[in-house]
Amino acid sequence: MPTTLTINGATAAHDVSPATLLVDLLRDGLGLTGTHIGCDTSQCGACNVLVDGCATKACTVLAVQLDGASVTTIEGLAFGETLHPMQAAFKEHHGLQCGFCTPGMVMAGLEMVRRHGHDLDEATVSHELEGNLCRCTGYRNIVTAIAAGAKAMAVSGETTHA
Ligand code: FES
Ligand code: FES
Repeated sequence: MPTTLTINGATAAHDVSPATLLVDLLRDGLGLTGTHIGCDTSQCGACNVLVDGCATKACTVLAVQLDGASVTTIEGLAFGETLHPMQAAFKEHHGLQCGFCTPGMVMAGLEMVRRHGHDLDEATVSHELEGNLCRCTGYRNIVTAIAAGAKAMAVSGETTHA
């Protein structure tokens, strides 16, 4: 089925099966493999992307459902060589180890900023991370990174540019 999507700022028509999940279109169809698949139960959040600015588990939506929508993946956040402030905060605060969960965590952080603003306390971040699993870090540095990234976004005025 013809489906028009704006992905990381580029609008294009895609011919997709009615059964194609967004995550499969991104990874297998478009090579945007920064969006990960960590489960088959919609629990891990590794597949989080932004759909019209809202964090969405890309394993839970069909591509055809999003006709006309704007999708931002982790590949669409940086400005060339300059990381998005939320990405930079993960780097600065060691919010990752293997990095598998990180794209989804970054998107979850952006969703927290969208819904709660730039001044995020640890309890809010911890609660909001219930839909994202990390097997490595113990979460402590992820919480710190998201709170710091939210503050940095306020300074830079950045949300997302895609
Ligand atoms: Fe989507 Fe795990 S792959 S929630
Ligand atoms: Fe390895 Fe989170 S850093 S799963």
